[in-house]
Amino acid sequence: MTDFAFALEPDGLLLHSPDGVSRRFPWLWLRDNEPAAFHPVTQERSFDLLSVPPDIFPERAEMRDGEILIHWPDLPGPCAYRLDWLLARAPGRRRPDPADIAPVAWADDHAVARFEAAALAGDEGLGRMLSQLKRDGLVVIGGLDGDEEGVALGQRIGFLRETNFGVIFEVVSRPDPNNQAYTHDELGLHTDLPNQHLVPGYQFLHCLANEATGGDSVFADGFRILEDLRAAAPAAFRLLAEVDVPFRFRDRETDLRIRRPLVEPDAAGRPVRLAFNPGILDIVDMESGIVGDWYRAYRSLKALVDSHSRRLQLRLKSGEMAVFDNSRILHGRTAFDPNTGRRRLRGYYIDRGELDSRIRVLHGAQFE
Ligand SMILES: [Fe+2]
Repeated sequence: MTDFAFALEPDGLLLHSPDGVSRRFPWLWLRDNEPAAFHPVTQERSFDLLSVPPDIFPERAEMRDGEILIHWPDLPGPCAYRLDWLLARAPGRRRPDPADIAPVAWADDHAVARFEAAALAGDEGLGRMLSQLKRDGLVVIGGLDGDEEGVALGQRIGFLRETNFGVIFEVVSRPDPNNQAYTHDELGLHTDLPNQHLVPGYQFLHCLANEATGGDSVFADGFRILEDLRAAAPAAFRLLAEVDVPFRFRDRETDLRIRRPLVEPDAAGRPVRLAFNPGILDIVDMESGIVGDWYRAYRSLKALVDSHSRRLQLRLKSGEMAVFDNSRILHGRTAFDPNTGRRRLRGYYIDRGELDSRIRVLHGAQFE
């Protein structure tokens, strides 16, 4: 690192590196982000931004043994900045994130990735499964033969998210259902609980018994559907992303409502969230001038959701668990006849922040 050079400029440190690139580090940024600004044990920032003037400028700086020493006017000794540290964290460079795994959208010809529970016993296997889940949005895990094994796997990943349906919900046909999932009817493709302020991130459905006639699981990749909609009808895609609609679930104990658009795109316009659940879409209440256009767009989306060229049908067997991104993958089931045998699924959610955290920790990223 002998070919580095620097200059003290009015608006920051200008660092020239051997690769010919010059990087600018504003003075206040250097002071607020320096290693000593963070508590050595908690790793949390302890520096008070208002303890220095906004136009803070160093008295002098010097380069020594792969680091730059900056002498600030208010400190008795210099602050050391390693050159490799500066290069890795220059303003405009995001910290690498092992949980930032690009999704790959799929259609009906997709082969769902399958993992055996025994292969997930170690950290490496668990990390591989979670990475695949981030990529495809859906995986199936086999070999979870005990009733508690599905939940035990989730507890290795993160905190289970409690909702008004409990921490763990049993999907069975009930005589007094408060949700269509608890009937034996066909369940159209949907995402769960878009009526919640924080929509549950990932859903885990552990099949404990599937002996009835019917009751196959159906999945579709919402990203593929939305990309197709965006390509075929960009104005419809935009309208669904711009117009808030009300979602609502109510029973004797709850009245959970939120307004949100059906589609959430990122800054580049790519879909990153889908909220699709006709069952709990409340009375549509937008301005009358756009109702007609909005319904045309919603119908276009529904037609793509219902299209068989974009959906997968598979039959979960006892001991298998489907895991999927609840803001990307639509799920449903075919009707079943409860008189022909038992059908019982045990479900729970883990929020996406928890799952991403586990991926990072499995990579050791928390020490970087
Ligand atoms: Fe559901």
